[in-house]
Amino acid sequence: MLDMERIPTHVAIVMDGNGRWADKRRLPKMAGHNAGMKAMKEIVKKASSLGIKNLTVYAFSTENWKRSAEEIGGIFKLIVVYVDSELRELHENHVRVQILGDYSGLPTASVDRIRRALAVTEKNTGMQFNIALNYGGRDDIRRAVTELAALVVEGKIKSEEITEEMIGEHLWTGKFHANCGDPELIIRTSGEMRLSNYLLWQSAYSEFVFTDTLWPDFTPEKFEEALLEYQGRNRRFGGR
Ligand code: IPE
Ligand code: IPE
Ligand code: MG
Repeated sequence: MLDMERIPTHVAIVMDGNGRWADKRRLPKMAGHNAGMKAMKEIVKKASSLGIKNLTVYAFSTENWKRSAEEIGGIFKLIVVYVDSELRELHENHVRVQILGDYSGLPTASVDRIRRALAVTEKNTGMQFNIALNYGGRDDIRRAVTELAALVVEGKIKSEEITEEMIGEHLWTGKFHANCGDPELIIRTSGEMRLSNYLLWQSAYSEFVFTDTLWPDFTPEKFEEALLEYQGRNRRFGGR
């Protein structure tokens, strides 16, 4: 049984395996991404009902631009479909949408829906749903460094006074952006055991749960199982 007193405040997910899910069924890749979006809808509802404060999903990495124009366009179109079909319910459930990553270069229809989702849910106080979009962990750190360097140039801070906390504040997850902090738990589906440039700084002390389940098959029950596994972990943070 899940201990409701020890639900993690921030869970991050690498939603991987859409392509293999489609391949197994001899379907086009987009059918996999479509099924993946449906799985994501259910996990968002589940996380919100469990009282998780922050759910972060990896939707598109800075490396995913290497894929075909057709697949990339299809994924961005799914953002439009998702917002058009889900924004009302997200808002009713008091979910606040945030984006981790620079989405300004996406197709205009996608940028339009993202702006709408951000604006409509801006003041919501329920779960914060962070979508990592055109996100890369190294790019995240590079941006934080750039922002801090600008503050040094402006004479607002001294370079030798830069702390780990200040670097964290300038990341996409930090207080100057989505303000969701570090995830206690990172889940990756599809059997791959790597970060793929996800939340590099933020994952310093995250617990990892890997499952062979392909993302479209990842159900709310499997999400609960991952939380249960997390609750069985002994987090030491370098202490005894
Ligand atoms: C993850 O599924 C979704 C995105 C990267 C957008 P994949 O498309 O990577 O699925 P596999 O890894 O090829 O099975
Ligand atoms: C990570 O999955 C990115 C997302 C889930 C959006 P990938 O499928 O892109 O990762 P690799 O290529 O297997 O490392
Ligand atoms: Mg993959």
